[in-house]
Amino acid sequence: VTNQVLELLGCRHPVVAFTHAPAVVAAATEAGGFGVLGAARFSPEELDDALTAIDAACGRGPYGVDVLYPMSYVAGSRAALEAQIPTEHRDFVTKLARRHEVPPWTGSSTTHEFGGNIITQEGVRELVEVAIAHKVRLIVSALGPLPNDLVAAAKSQGVVIGGMVGSARHAQKHVDAGAQLIVAQGTEAAGHTGETTTMVLIPEVANAVAPVPVLAAGGIATGSQIAAALMLGAAGVWCGSVWLTTDESDTPEPLKRKLVIAASTDTVRSRSTTGKPVRVLRSAFTEAWGAPDAPPALEAPLQGILVHELIASSFEHGVVEIMTGAVGQSVGYLDGFRSVRETLERLLSEAGTSLAQADEISQWL
Ligand SMILES: Cc1cc2nc3c(=O)[nH]c(=O)nc-3n(C[C@H](O)[C@H](O)[C@H](O)COP(=O)(O)O)c2cc1C
Repeated sequence: VTNQVLELLGCRHPVVAFTHAPAVVAAATEAGGFGVLGAARFSPEELDDALTAIDAACGRGPYGVDVLYPMSYVAGSRAALEAQIPTEHRDFVTKLARRHEVPPWTGSSTTHEFGGNIITQEGVRELVEVAIAHKVRLIVSALGPLPNDLVAAAKSQGVVIGGMVGSARHAQKHVDAGAQLIVAQGTEAAGHTGETTTMVLIPEVANAVAPVPVLAAGGIATGSQIAAALMLGAAGVWCGSVWLTTDESDTPEPLKRKLVIAASTDTVRSRSTTGKPVRVLRSAFTEAWGAPDAPPALEAPLQGILVHELIASSFEHGVVEIMTGAVGQSVGYLDGFRSVRETLERLLSEAGTSLAQADEISQWL
């Protein structure tokens, strides 16, 4: 199955790098892996610019785009959504900002990953149209499958369609909607996650959707974990957290330093950043929302709109204890700063060693 996925993606190594940084996408593809740009927080114009930059940097090498296609959310104009945020919630954020001396956001920092722009089905349609126009190799949708007409338009341009899932039931839905590749993401992962661990999920999903190839995601930051994922029936792996501390990543420096010292127990699956359960780095921000006096998180996208300025301001003004960002439990393995190429080479060489050991061990079974 690994051959099958390499052919589908047109890359040399079965390692996908999910990232928000165009430079990481290009570097991963250049090194023989497969870069995927997380486009959820881009405007169509920003995505067009990013894909043009990637095309120039990696000679149109194969890469993909990932979008979040939300199935349920509160709809409306920004003003209408703002009006639905209860005073109790606004007061809670104001008090939190005061307690940690977070000055007001002036907007000079780059848009942070949470709440900066509102994700709607119409917005995703525009992003997918930009990606198709660039003839990207792969488009993956998370949260839900893309509508039929978009899937057909992408496939007619030779784009491979993938679906990111946290359960076998959702994997089947994506395959029924035309997915040719499934990313099975365990609860250990950064970002929106389900509750099932990678160890349990991979064989379940691989069996459910065979012969459609499955990439394993969630908690993979070493070569032995890649070897394990392949043994579980995955055709390759999809990693996110491990690229956050690479030289090419656009992770703000203070957050990079927090990630390098964090342990695997320093993440939390919390609704406090977007309104949906997202695994992020534990910080004074997530702790406050988990405290007994906190109001319940609002539905998406209201929660993201509510907290966006506070989180963005923590980066703008260097309030380190509030800073948070999506990261998985594999954060405990992030121990320094390396290039994307070095990271990929290390993963592959460790995986080779583990697979050779597995061969040796098999004589005892
Ligand atoms: C900063 C960050 C943001 C993420 N945002 C998204 C996203 O927008 N869409 C998505 O499908 N996955 C997103 N993910 C999850 C990754 O696609 C991937 O499944 C996950 O990182 C794999 O687990 P790992 O972090 O343990 O490697 C994000 C991951 C990180 C690190």
